[in-house]
Amino acid sequence: PQVFEIPETFRETARQFQEAMMQYSCAIREFKTKLEVLNDELSMRNARNPIEMIKARVKKPKSIVEKLQRRGLPLSIESMESNLDDIAGVRVICSFVDDIYEISRMLERQDDVTIIAIKDYIKAPKENGYRSYHMIVEVPVFFSSSKKNIRVEVQIRTIAMDFWASLEHKMRYKKNIPENHVKYLQDELYDCARQSAELDNRMQNIRNLIAEEAEEEERDTLAMLPMK
Ligand code: GTP
Ligand code: MG
Repeated sequence: PQVFEIPETFRETARQFQEAMMQYSCAIREFKTKLEVLNDELSMRNARNPIEMIKARVKKPKSIVEKLQRRGLPLSIESMESNLDDIAGVRVICSFVDDIYEISRMLERQDDVTIIAIKDYIKAPKENGYRSYHMIVEVPVFFSSSKKNIRVEVQIRTIAMDFWASLEHKMRYKKNIPENHVKYLQDELYDCARQSAELDNRMQNIRNLIAEEAEEEERDTLAMLPMK
């Protein structure tokens, strides 16, 4: 049988690519730990979890190549590392809008997290209704003989925003939808985004009111304690 030789350069590139992917998945692990630490601490203090769920993924090689090609960028590991911000991706799902800002502020204050970019699609939703808080950050990861700053794309959103985004994502990748349906679906989705943002705000208000009541109760209890 014929034996195909794998050229040495190809073998070396493949090894380097695998190493880069390993580094991205380590960066995800480091970043997830930061989020878990914040969640543990905040849940002790407030007796509730600000983070409902954390989802993470490393971008598939196929999608990396497609994105580089789409942008007319060179297909190399260097080009990938310097041009693509979303190879390591972490999605943080919160119950309440305030939690999103609390978590993001805490991350922004950590001195080993470098903020590369922030897009607040909650204060300024996208035209289609998309809402989320996006951060591109860099975190240092220590390997056997070197330290590397690695980029992670962070998307922080509520359960409702996440629900909406996954539905919208499905529509985006459905091809042959008839022209007249597309317009209808876009309008419907936009309206759903608006309604679910309103729901998020109302739920946030309810939570604020409950918290206020609880504070008042605590003050009253303290006031009733005998003075020394
Ligand atoms: P790319 O979209 O990755 O090319 O980069 P960008 O510079 O446009 O970044 P942006 O922050 O706008 O979006 C980054 C990611 O957020 C996307 O890859 C999606 O995962 C998510 N996202 C942004 N806009 C939308 C949207 O309209 N709908 C959905 N479902 N997800 C979105
Ligand atoms: Mg985009």
